[in-house]
Amino acid sequence: MKKIISISLLLIVPIFLFSQNKVWKSYSGDRIIEQKVDSVLSLMTVKEKIGQMSQFSANWSVTGPVMPDNFLPYLKKGLIGSIFNAVTVDGVREMQKIAVEKTRLGIPILFGYDVIHGYKTIFPIPLAEACSWDLDLMKQTARIAAEEATADGLSWTFAPMVDISRDPRWGRVMEGAGEDPFLGSQIAKARVEGFQGGKDWRSLKETNTILSCVKHFAAYGAAESGRDYNVAELSEHTLRNVYFPPYKTAIEAGAGTVMAAFNEVNGVPSTANYWLLTKVLREEWGFKGFVVTDYTGINELVPHGVAKDEKQAAMLALKAGNDMDMTGATYIKYLEGLFNEKKITEEQINVAVRRILEMKFLLGLFDDPYKYMDEDRSARTIRKPEFLETARKAVARSLVLLKNDKQLLPIEKNKHTKVALLGPMMKNSINLNGEWQGRGDRNKSVSIYKGLMDVYKNSNVKFDYAKGCEIDGFTSKSIDEAVKVAEKSDVLLVAVGEDFNWSGEAACRTNIQLPEGQQKLLKALKKTGKPIALLILSGRPLDISWEAQNIDAIVQVWFPGSQGGYGVADVVSGDYNPSGKLVMSFPRNVGQIPVYYNQKPTGRPVDLKNPTVDYKSRYIDASITSLFPFGYGLSYTTFSIKNLKLDTSVLRPNGRIVATVDVTNTGEREGEVVVQMYCRDLVGSTTRPIKELKGFQKINLKPQEKRQVQFVITPELLKYYGINHKKVIEPGDFKLWISQNSADTTNVADFSYKE
Ligand code: NOJ
Repeated sequence: MKKIISISLLLIVPIFLFSQNKVWKSYSGDRIIEQKVDSVLSLMTVKEKIGQMSQFSANWSVTGPVMPDNFLPYLKKGLIGSIFNAVTVDGVREMQKIAVEKTRLGIPILFGYDVIHGYKTIFPIPLAEACSWDLDLMKQTARIAAEEATADGLSWTFAPMVDISRDPRWGRVMEGAGEDPFLGSQIAKARVEGFQGGKDWRSLKETNTILSCVKHFAAYGAAESGRDYNVAELSEHTLRNVYFPPYKTAIEAGAGTVMAAFNEVNGVPSTANYWLLTKVLREEWGFKGFVVTDYTGINELVPHGVAKDEKQAAMLALKAGNDMDMTGATYIKYLEGLFNEKKITEEQINVAVRRILEMKFLLGLFDDPYKYMDEDRSARTIRKPEFLETARKAVARSLVLLKNDKQLLPIEKNKHTKVALLGPMMKNSINLNGEWQGRGDRNKSVSIYKGLMDVYKNSNVKFDYAKGCEIDGFTSKSIDEAVKVAEKSDVLLVAVGEDFNWSGEAACRTNIQLPEGQQKLLKALKKTGKPIALLILSGRPLDISWEAQNIDAIVQVWFPGSQGGYGVADVVSGDYNPSGKLVMSFPRNVGQIPVYYNQKPTGRPVDLKNPTVDYKSRYIDASITSLFPFGYGLSYTTFSIKNLKLDTSVLRPNGRIVATVDVTNTGEREGEVVVQMYCRDLVGSTTRPIKELKGFQKINLKPQEKRQVQFVITPELLKYYGINHKKVIEPGDFKLWISQNSADTTNVADFSYKE
């Protein structure tokens, strides 16, 4: 503690020595904080500064190559700025104690962790949660994740991941918010606000808010061939219009840190990409927090072939704009030498260190380095009943009802129905959390079977069970047993899917159908002639063309997290009327990938009413449309959207158009509908997507209830990055749809923009 006191005393003496610098623009813009940062900086040796720029992994949960050197000696010398993968209050306190009480300057450590969709209470995977289109809910789950993680010693999460992804082969689609830049941006904002507690930097000082890290900058989701870490080959036009918006919005929402991506962009790996990390991120967007590499991103510049060795890689990374080296130990090894050789300047080091120190000040770590380390709070906070309740609610809202012939679902509690519970996912707990499950306990997750038993406890429904097959394996006997159970039942509820580690980092697939055994099981069950409702657990949209044609009802469950079984049972029973809408299009087969709704037109567009005309942009063996489009999802009730009206058909530079529709619940149950507004800019200086989401509202309607829904269209909303990569709206004609999914064209209107 002594050291901290000596530093705090110094802090009240304003030091103007460094505050004259022009390169550093603080995140807070607060003069007092800036002076505090500079006063600490003035005490530091070059070596200590470089230490602040180095992050080490405690290796308690490794997600990549193991760090070459043991980090303890560095910690003891005050040469570490941040540690990640260190968990539990005890473990973290021990390390903080060394940093604060046993080193020359006693600068506190920033503790990071991948808190992606919950810490101990595990929420549905981010892709699933995004399907709720419920921004308040996503903000709330991020808030809870922050509550739990900070109660367990952590101050920094490597989330949200906001990479747009159009390729379901890529395993990390599970971690993002799908294919749409508009929705993806709103979700990015909600999650940043949830983690950090709001846009104002002062909220970081709260004990239950966590510093967020928007990742992976940039275009990590555009990995060619859906293969992780692969090249992202895109034009600046697509970068700016499709991939950049969620990062930019997250930064505008206050994200304090950014993670550089593994992949290259425009021929330069993001980690060495000055244009990305400095020109765009800082100079154009005004980002003022700090940039951390993704794991060994600096070391990887060598195999990428842009650095001959790690020393050169460290230099390139610093100059590009990386402030902290995550686990690669290149800064700690080489920056001092590079500085002595005059290949880098002390000011370049100072700027990075200032950015890191400022975050520590804003979090309040200099005032109380142990603020997140309180066992009582941890015990009171983790897996609180209300957190688990929110998780259950999030599951029910994330599920997407893809098909429901003859209204097979819900299975009403009061009807005397014999239901066969089948499939390898039915009693499975360990898969439910999906990948990136924080510190969730896979054995504690509520299986679908358990959820159903609970929800149907006092009902007239009778259940029987057979597994049928493994996730990846089967025997004829196991399938026969399932068929026998099926034959004695009225309805078959079958839970199938992928193993959790078939998605996530470094988990890409070229075959995204259900494994052979599960397909065989479904085919055998189909032969019984019994109605089948399918629950699909997966970290990506799968190729379910056969299932879509042959199975009566399909619910896309994704990986639902620790309360999964309850949320699924809420939907199956009708206690909750499903309202999830897809945020990624489902392909008809892998050959169609990437298939996404906001595609560009071609010079030879296919007329979807007459799709087999030759010499059009089409396939001769498959449709060009997706199996289930973006924005799609059914309900147990039905809705109609009618009477689309615009208050004016001309939009002026300072004007707006108000679009209204009447939305009616035309069915028998209360339910929620996501009213979606899409636009098309018919002629531009560059080609424009055939449709773009520009607004949405999720509303709840009682049976037969009708409500008018309004959307406001402004020039700002319609702007895009045009031929000169500048944000513009160009005079001309637009189309507008208000609909229930991206393929629904029933309500259309025209307007034009005039200067
Ligand atoms: C690599 C992943 O790409 C990144 O998302 C994650 O935050 C780091 N590893 C740390 O675990």
